Amino acid sequence: MQKTFYVTTPIYYVNDKPHIGHAYTTVASDVVCRYKRMCGYDVFFLTGTDEHGQKMEQSAQKQGIKPIELADRNNARFRELWKILNISNDDFIRTTQSRHKKTVWEIIRKMQASGDIYLGEYEGWYCTPCEAYWTETQLLEGNLCPDCGRETSKLKESSYFFKMSKYEDAILEHINKNPDFIRPESRRNEIVSFIKEGLRDLSISRINFSWGIPMEENEKHVIYVWVDALTNYLSALGYFDNESERKKYWPANYHIVGKDILRFHTVYWPAMLMSAGIELPKSVFAHGWWTVDGQKMSKSMGNAIDPVWLVDTFSRDSFRYFLMREVPFGLDGDFSFKALIHRINGDLANDLGNLVSRTCSMVKKYFNGMIPEYSISDALDENIYKAVEKSSKEADEHITNLSFNKALLSIWESISAMNRYIDDAKPWALAKDEANKGRLGSVLYTVLDGLRAVSHLIYPFMPETAMEIRKQIGSDDNINVSEEKNIYKMKLLKSGSMLGEIKNIFPRIDEKEMLEKVYSSQNKPENNPVQENLIDFSVFEQVELKAGKVLEAENVKKSEKLLKFKIDVGDGGRTIVSGIAKSYKPEDLLGKTIVVVTNLKPAKLMGIESCGMILAAFNGERHFVMELPESIPAGTRIK
Ligand code: ME8
Ligand code: MG
Repeated sequence: MQKTFYVTTPIYYVNDKPHIGHAYTTVASDVVCRYKRMCGYDVFFLTGTDEHGQKMEQSAQKQGIKPIELADRNNARFRELWKILNISNDDFIRTTQSRHKKTVWEIIRKMQASGDIYLGEYEGWYCTPCEAYWTETQLLEGNLCPDCGRETSKLKESSYFFKMSKYEDAILEHINKNPDFIRPESRRNEIVSFIKEGLRDLSISRINFSWGIPMEENEKHVIYVWVDALTNYLSALGYFDNESERKKYWPANYHIVGKDILRFHTVYWPAMLMSAGIELPKSVFAHGWWTVDGQKMSKSMGNAIDPVWLVDTFSRDSFRYFLMREVPFGLDGDFSFKALIHRINGDLANDLGNLVSRTCSMVKKYFNGMIPEYSISDALDENIYKAVEKSSKEADEHITNLSFNKALLSIWESISAMNRYIDDAKPWALAKDEANKGRLGSVLYTVLDGLRAVSHLIYPFMPETAMEIRKQIGSDDNINVSEEKNIYKMKLLKSGSMLGEIKNIFPRIDEKEMLEKVYSSQNKPENNPVQENLIDFSVFEQVELKAGKVLEAENVKKSEKLLKFKIDVGDGGRTIVSGIAKSYKPEDLLGKTIVVVTNLKPAKLMGIESCGMILAAFNGERHFVMELPESIPAGTRIK
């Protein structure tokens, strides 16, 4: 029976669009899946989107749309990006799908059957304006909300709980017995100490918002977003469906995640699975965190790099290569355009691209583009065979262990060996004497054949480039070999076949020119000025602005600054006092249509009650009242 291999990415939140951090996890998962498929495994590769929760509900509300509209919009962006990045996922799960809801209900039923769910009271600190719960430790001094700094209040509400504490020992034991369960190792220790501090029961439902999956038995309760989200890994398999063929993929070989969500995957998730009587995943791997030019990526910084733009500006394969080569998987990394350009010019253009083009050009020149015979061997040829065999074995081990940068380093040793081989064998010198034609053909055959093997090895990382190289070198063997060891089988290239059209696969990039280009195009459109005093749209919306007709205007006695108006804002006329007397005589504004704030609390100015405010620009010297066209009726709402 074919061996199965199941890999998952996190399901990403759809309250925003994807950036290079999301691309990173997904490309890494794609690499190992493509490799395993190439080696004959029956692979299932799952990604998807996490669409429920209070944050989604709030983001949608701020944008004045329904949560599902926001989810659809950003879900489409993720799908589009995966197409652009050549991601080979077998399915795409959305937590708003009914197959998912069914699975969440089923796992909760199983947990209930184990006696692990109970109704209790959740105690938290609630910030009313933010609609958010905080734990005591999250609060600022004086029990203030860590988000907005306002006072919070202690609140108790009914909630379902999961007896997570019950599984403390079992999880620790599992981690102990299965050294690969949490990787890399440094992260395992972190999780172990966290568990040893003691696990508490987990509140798994909320009643203060509604965008989520309700508890099956109690519609008022929405299931906690992490219980909902983690279950996706089973939903896509139809795990509780007896008919489902996909059940064979469980347990997952890898949940690949960022370090930010490792705890959910190695504490909450195992506890849930144990409670439901389901086998645990084989391994959870937490990779590191990307920064950009040394800074945290965030929307407010305007430095979150758009992967779509990046692929447009560079190429999909150079971006995939960079992500996998630049930083050891598991460690944090920094993205910079300089580093990307250096990788492209060095590893891709110089080492690989150049090797392909100089080899193909010589075959064109000396053999009219026909793949020559391998007829005269030399001890030198062994260098290539050995290098390719070593790279293949190491790449197999490293990719299987998710040490992507080591795999690439090792593959590049073969590429360097081939470049050295050409320098040593000097085909251009051999070509000078017709008597050496046999050896000349053998040298070029060996390089072409080595490139064929290398095309297999780079395929998981750069599928498009691998196929392009194979076209150029005239290779037609199947990229999907059935066993790892076939990858380094040599002499599979058919002599007598014709090379394809020679194209430069990785053109060199002019660093200075490119840096100028990226800084002007990447940063400008999205890099709006960073401003500290931002307010939510909902705050702005509270201000009621209306068109007002000035019916009466007069000076306020004993005041140099104030004018008193009667202004019709659709209510027949109200009194408004305004400090614009130094800029306007009363009659200047009579009959004009102006902008008025109509829902300010009344204020007394020089004893007169003013019910509203006139909008005006002030340049430090005088006011300019905002005027509207006369045709606009009094009381028209301004938004
Ligand atoms: O946490 N560097 O979704 P999310 C590296 N919905 N990786 C990064 C990154 C960065 N700067 N930023 C994001 C969620 N990532 C939950 C997951 S799973 C059942 C539910 C990647 O949209 C990384 O994989 O916040 C991280 O774990 C994930 O995106 C978080 O995505
Ligand atoms: Mg996150």
